[in-house]
Amino acid sequence: MSAPLTRWSRAQIGLHWGVALLILAAWATGEGMGQAFRARLAAPDAFPGFTTHTLIGGTVLVLVVVRLLLRATQGAPDPVPGTSPRMAQAATWGHRLLYVLMLGVPALGAAAWYGGLEAPAEVHETVGNLILFVAGAHALVALAHHYVLRDDTLRRMLPRLG
Ligand code: HEM
Ligand code: HEM
Repeated sequence: MSAPLTRWSRAQIGLHWGVALLILAAWATGEGMGQAFRARLAAPDAFPGFTTHTLIGGTVLVLVVVRLLLRATQGAPDPVPGTSPRMAQAATWGHRLLYVLMLGVPALGAAAWYGGLEAPAEVHETVGNLILFVAGAHALVALAHHYVLRDDTLRRMLPRLG
C-alpha cells in the first residue's frame, strides 16, 4: 500500500489556480454576451462561432474534465490532521458543489450558444454569477484555515517555491 498523500500534485495545483483564473476571466468577459447571443439567434450563420468568452469558458470545461481525471488517478490528500468529521463532510460537499458548477456553467453556456436555446442561457447567467459567489466563500474558508486555524490546508495547495 502506498503512503497517504500529504499535498496536491504539481499538476493538480497548476490546474486549480489556472482554472480559478480562467473562471474569473470568463465571468469578466460575460458582458456583451447577451447582445452577441441575440445577434446569433437572429442570424446563426452571420455570427462567428466563438467569442473571447466562449473560448475561455470552453477551456474551463475541458480543464475541469482533465482535473477530475487526474483526481481519479492521482487521488487527493486526506483532510489535515485535527479536522472533525463534520468539517470534512462540509468540505466534501462544498467541493462537489464547485465541481458541479464548474461543469454545469460552461455546459449550459454551450447549450445556449450552439443549440440556440434561450432557457439554458438564462440559467447560465444566474449560475455564472453564483459560481463566483460560492468560489469567494470557498476562498474565505481557505484563508480562515491559514490565518485562524493555522493549519496546512492552503499551504499544500500552493506551489512549492525553490
Ligand atoms: C466557467 C465558465 C463561464 C462563466 C463563469 C460564464 C459566466 C457568464 C456570465 C456571468 C454571463 C452574464 C453576463 C452579463 O450579462 O453581464 C454569461 C453570459 C453568457 N455566456 Fe457564459 N460563462 C462561462 C462559459 C460560457 C461558455 C463555454 C459559453 C458558450 C460556449 C457561454 C455562453 C454565454 C452566453 C451565450 C451568454 C449570454 C446569455 C444571455 O444573455 O442570455 N458561457 N456567462
Ligand atoms: C474560481 C475559483 C475557485 C474554484 C472553482 C475552486 C475550486 C476548488 C475545488 C473544487 C477544490 C477541491 C479539490 C478536490 O477535492 O478535488 C479546491 C481546493 C482548494 N482550494 Fe479552491 N477554488 C477556487 C479558488 C480558490 C482560492 C481563491 C483559494 C484560496 C484563497 C482556494 C483554496 C483552495 C485550497 C486550499 C484547496 C485545497 C483544500 C484541501 O486540501 O482540502 N481556492 N478548490
